[in-house]
Amino acid sequence: MILVTGGAGFIGANFVLDWLASQGEAVVNLDKLTYAGNLHNLDSLRSDARHVFVQGDIGDRALLDRLLAEHRPRAIVNFAAESHVDRSIHGPEDFIQTNVVGTFRLLEAARQYWQALPATEKGAFRFLHVSTDEVYGTLAPTDPAFTEDHRVEPNSPYSASKAASDHLVRAWHHTYGLPVLTTNCSNNYGPLHFPEKLIPLMIVNALAGKSLPIYGDGMQIRDWLYVRDHCSAIRRVLEAGRLGETYNIGGWNEKPNIEIVNTVCALLDELRPRADGQSYATQITYVTDRPGHDRRYAIDARKIERELGWKPAETFDTGIRKTVQWYLDNPEWVQQVQTGAYRDWVAKQYAGA
Ligand code: NAD
Ligand code: DAU
Repeated sequence: MILVTGGAGFIGANFVLDWLASQGEAVVNLDKLTYAGNLHNLDSLRSDARHVFVQGDIGDRALLDRLLAEHRPRAIVNFAAESHVDRSIHGPEDFIQTNVVGTFRLLEAARQYWQALPATEKGAFRFLHVSTDEVYGTLAPTDPAFTEDHRVEPNSPYSASKAASDHLVRAWHHTYGLPVLTTNCSNNYGPLHFPEKLIPLMIVNALAGKSLPIYGDGMQIRDWLYVRDHCSAIRRVLEAGRLGETYNIGGWNEKPNIEIVNTVCALLDELRPRADGQSYATQITYVTDRPGHDRRYAIDARKIERELGWKPAETFDTGIRKTVQWYLDNPEWVQQVQTGAYRDWVAKQYAGA
């Protein structure tokens, strides 16, 4: 079996669901269930004996040791993190605790476990760390896309904490020989995306008749990848990635934020037209920019294609249509994640918008 951390969050839950559907191998899913973790994401696995859910912290060394001894996973896939840039600006402490200290504790537990494995299992063991393109910093409009050799220049508390964790993973390989793999992926979108991030926030706000807040001029560029393509890339890296290497993952799909929001509005106009016949785009409002906002990210994903034969299966057109349709089909999920804590966050972040 494999140990997945953060498997109740957006990407982790998509990964666990896809893994059990495609690989069939059992999963121990360790998740702290922070505001971003949601067991309803895994409802379809309730009676599936191949999925063992454990609520806990990747920083809890005693728990990690117990889980590793009990389940003897052949791999660890580390999704667990604080992941939202805006929250990291309001309160960076949790990001240091989970992304840096938590990853350190997980690495140490993995190292002790791996060192004691019999030779064959030791040779097959993998620690895959899921990271982000944000560690590379920001690009000017004509700069080439980030390769794996790009300098690391994080600009937000979130990206700095992820860069720190990437460095720890690298060091545990070079110093102790731990068989690690690191992936640096661009912006994901798709089902189960918590509506504090751009695309799901725009969908739920549009449907609720609320404003669609665009930071600054809306011309910041991100490279968008459908979440299930990210999951297939991780499976491929786990299966065949070269030890100690990093692999960039992206969708070859750079778009400015305002274009993304206009696309979401156009899809909603088609699939769930407003009663007054107006476009959802009339709800767009420009608000104060994010401090330190990175202007452009772009991923050069040629290495993973060349070495491992991975390419995204979805285009943005197909992926965003599926995504909007999923939110329209799952109003209970949306309602259930919009708890008091969610409403408090929205009030704090968009006060005066
Ligand atoms: P998310 O915020 O939706 O989910 C994170 C999950 O981790 C939640 O279930 C949460 O409960 C859990 N968690 C948080 N702290 C924990 C701890 N101390 N111990 C155990 N579990 C803990 O995040 P996501 O968007 O699914 O991102 C998953 C990973 O992928 C993160 O490492 C993130 O940096 C990385 N990533 C995300 C994107 C993206 O676009 N969302 C892109 C590239 C990389
Ligand atoms: O690039 C990968 C990263 O993508 C991941 O590492 C992060 O975990 C993930 O959250 C995401 O970070 P971003 O900051 O790019 O995502 P977010 O959805 O918060 O914002 C996307 C863009 O949209 C960004 O330029 C800010 C802008 N934005 C966001 C929100 C929430 C707005 O204009 N208005 C908003 O209300």
